Amino acid sequence: MIRQPIVCVMGHVDHGKTSLLDAVRKTTVAKREAGAITQHIGASEVPTEVVKKICGALLKVELKIPGLLFIDTPGHEAFTNLRRRGGSVADIAVLVIDITQGFQPQTLEALNILRDYKTPFVVAANKIDLIPGWNPQKTNCFTKSLNEQLPNVQIALDEKIYELIGRLSQLGFQCERFDRITDFTKQVAIIPVSAKTGEGVAELLMFIAGLSQKFLEKQLSIEVEGPCKGAVLEVKDEKGLGKTIDVIVYDGSLRKNDVIVFGTINGVAETKVRALLKPKPLDEMRDPKEKFDYVDEVYAASGVKIYAPGLENALAGSSLFAVTEKNRASCIAEIEKEMSGILVESSGPGVIVKADTLGSVEAIEKLLADAGVPIKKASIGPIVKKDVIDAYNAKVQNRYCGVVLAFNVDISEEAQAEAAKHHVPIIESDVVYTMIENYQKWVEMEKEAERGEAYSNMVLPGKLRVLPGCCFRAKNPMIIGVEILAGRIKPGYKLMNDKGEEIGEIKSIQREKESLQEAKQGEQIAIAIDTQLTFGRQVSEGDVFYTCVPKEHYKLLTTKYKEHLSEGEHALLVEIRKIAGDVFL
Ligand code: GTP
Ligand code: MG
Repeated sequence: MIRQPIVCVMGHVDHGKTSLLDAVRKTTVAKREAGAITQHIGASEVPTEVVKKICGALLKVELKIPGLLFIDTPGHEAFTNLRRRGGSVADIAVLVIDITQGFQPQTLEALNILRDYKTPFVVAANKIDLIPGWNPQKTNCFTKSLNEQLPNVQIALDEKIYELIGRLSQLGFQCERFDRITDFTKQVAIIPVSAKTGEGVAELLMFIAGLSQKFLEKQLSIEVEGPCKGAVLEVKDEKGLGKTIDVIVYDGSLRKNDVIVFGTINGVAETKVRALLKPKPLDEMRDPKEKFDYVDEVYAASGVKIYAPGLENALAGSSLFAVTEKNRASCIAEIEKEMSGILVESSGPGVIVKADTLGSVEAIEKLLADAGVPIKKASIGPIVKKDVIDAYNAKVQNRYCGVVLAFNVDISEEAQAEAAKHHVPIIESDVVYTMIENYQKWVEMEKEAERGEAYSNMVLPGKLRVLPGCCFRAKNPMIIGVEILAGRIKPGYKLMNDKGEEIGEIKSIQREKESLQEAKQGEQIAIAIDTQLTFGRQVSEGDVFYTCVPKEHYKLLTTKYKEHLSEGEHALLVEIRKIAGDVFL
């Protein structure tokens, strides 16, 4: 028995991976994705009959494979691990390259993954409909469509293809347009396609199916009978059943009543399969349109929904194995190892991260690490009160860490209430990039607020003159009328005279019995000074005093807060510095 090959679709962001699968399935998954990007691994089965129907007369060989299991991967930079995981289980891959953009960073990354795992692949040179002058044809067949194109358009397409061939050859891959290949064992096929019009999809499927059958027959016929190895894609509530898990079985077989192990929030769990449900062919497991079929057994490679007791805490992204007494311990150890690398918990300062799958947690961890943001706890599942309390405690260690980052998860009412009570922001989004950006915006706002706070604690430059005939009390405290000549004064500021000698500290400022928190240039007010000096002896009418700006404040006011001061205030700062010399500065 030959199992269906796992076909992993890889490539740079927006090059059209999901659209290409949509073209095969006649679905519109790409249009419904949050942020128009793929953030999870998807899976869908394309039965041989559909391959035959799309390929038509092109298909010269008889297909023995039951179909193709396509795995869609995200192209966004942060999802390296999902791509790697997709690449690692793939039998064959489609590297999608937007022909108008050519090689991009994740194109290279995908190639490296394919090289690492020695995965055979074909290149889908996508978006040929964007070649200037391209005249779209109502056919899935590239060759037919090409014959209808003007010579200059055909040349323009070839130029693009040669660019790809050149780049791929620099990287050690011999490639050729599929219809010019002379040696299929050595050359990688480039198939021009358009996910938008469907042109080329026939040749693409024919190549994937043909190559799988020709070169992978041995690989596809082994281990179908072994114990199941799989990966949990998603944990979902299913009407009438309760919690179920969507799984890709990439090796072996799985039956009703098999004992399975998988990762949960509380470590590895074990349960017995009660029911197996298969999605209808061509449905994207992530976003199915139709109901499922109940089956007793599934073989690799396939997507299947499992119903069993105890799936409540299952972790999306975890590995799943069917176990016997013999392999039980090693399977559990493997899952534990996988989880410990992703679900972090540290005692140091850091933000709290909650996301929907292990893959998205990994992506967020990578993005945060790149942005230099530490993580205190990264976990999976809805936001609960404890997460908010953890964030509140993190705030004590570092105020910028006092947040919960929530990706694609629910927030409990209790957690909402707790967050409101402690002013802990919960930053949520269904696009990882937006979530991190919003966090960074929040940090900026906090910093701005902090700058404001710190600035309000600065001793600002001020200069005043003692008014004649305005001494209300000579000492302890000295209360005198003054005029602010420049800058400002506030209670708590120390004053010095024009020789740099300290006078005392301003206790309060008053104007007609009203206390003021500040007095500015031009104002005439009364001030109470806490001082040992006596008016009439050390202090006289007409004396000029200055605020004592501490050295640290002087530095900050001439650098970080430069913009906050007027030109006049800057001039006054220079004057104060000169007078104070080394005494205060
Ligand atoms: P990620 O999953 O986020 O990496 O993106 P993706 O590679 O799955 O790309 P997706 O299918 O979401 O397509 C990205 C954009 O390109 C969408 O706006 C598509 O409509 C457009 N697009 C995809 N294929 C074609 C094509 O063949 N021709 C044209 N003109 N546009 C296309
Ligand atoms: Mg996609």
